[in-house]
Amino acid sequence: MSSPFKRLSVNRPLVSLTAYDFPTARLIDEAGVDLILVGDSLGMVFAGLPDTTGVKLEHILYHTEVVTRAVKQALIVSDFPFGTYDTPEIAVKNGRRLIEAGAHAVKLEGGLGQISKLEALREAGIPTVGHIGMLPQRVREEGGYKKKGKTSPEADRLVESAVALENTGVGAIVLESIVPEVARRITEATEVPTIGIGSGKDCDGQIRVIHDIIGAFPWFVPPFVVPKADVAGEIRRAVEAYRDEVIG
Ligand code: KIV
Repeated sequence: MSSPFKRLSVNRPLVSLTAYDFPTARLIDEAGVDLILVGDSLGMVFAGLPDTTGVKLEHILYHTEVVTRAVKQALIVSDFPFGTYDTPEIAVKNGRRLIEAGAHAVKLEGGLGQISKLEALREAGIPTVGHIGMLPQRVREEGGYKKKGKTSPEADRLVESAVALENTGVGAIVLESIVPEVARRITEATEVPTIGIGSGKDCDGQIRVIHDIIGAFPWFVPPFVVPKADVAGEIRRAVEAYRDEVIG
């Protein structure tokens, strides 16, 4: 079976976005996005939860099915939600369900502590994507969203983690909120594509949450995001115009 990651073999930076619904997935696929992530960020920007830890496997399965119906070109990666990959056996069982729902690959958060799960997924023939740096599923225990790689030991551990992840056969690694210089070191130390978010420009590609890019979640915009549209403003304008038309 040929690797789903072949479609990431392009001679330019990779363009990645999240999507959770049919029209958005279809539009961004038609626009030529390389990788579409059914991310557990949907818990926040779609479902209004305070963080991603309340997302369930059933939520990601449903949104994976929806996105799969829309996408013809891009690589579809689905997130393992919090608490759904606690052991290698559970990771394989739930990974199979995500693939059956239509994902080409599955993503899980964490570095050296996740190696046994990534190896089990590889043995089961389930393609994987890694995710290191700031891990949103650990936001509660860490007391907030913190930049990673600020100290030399932390930076070295991130590089070590990325290399260990690569050795398990991951097809790409998301680098979240990592000091740009450290993200650059990781990118140089690994062959697989690094896909950055809040980690500077020296990654092999970039990923953003779609709501941030199109201005659809105005109540919080991460500092590293430059919105390219004001969808929230457009919705407000259209609904007010409709309201005024009905009221007369
Ligand atoms: O869930 C998500 O959207 C993610 C991205 C922030 C990489 O994991």
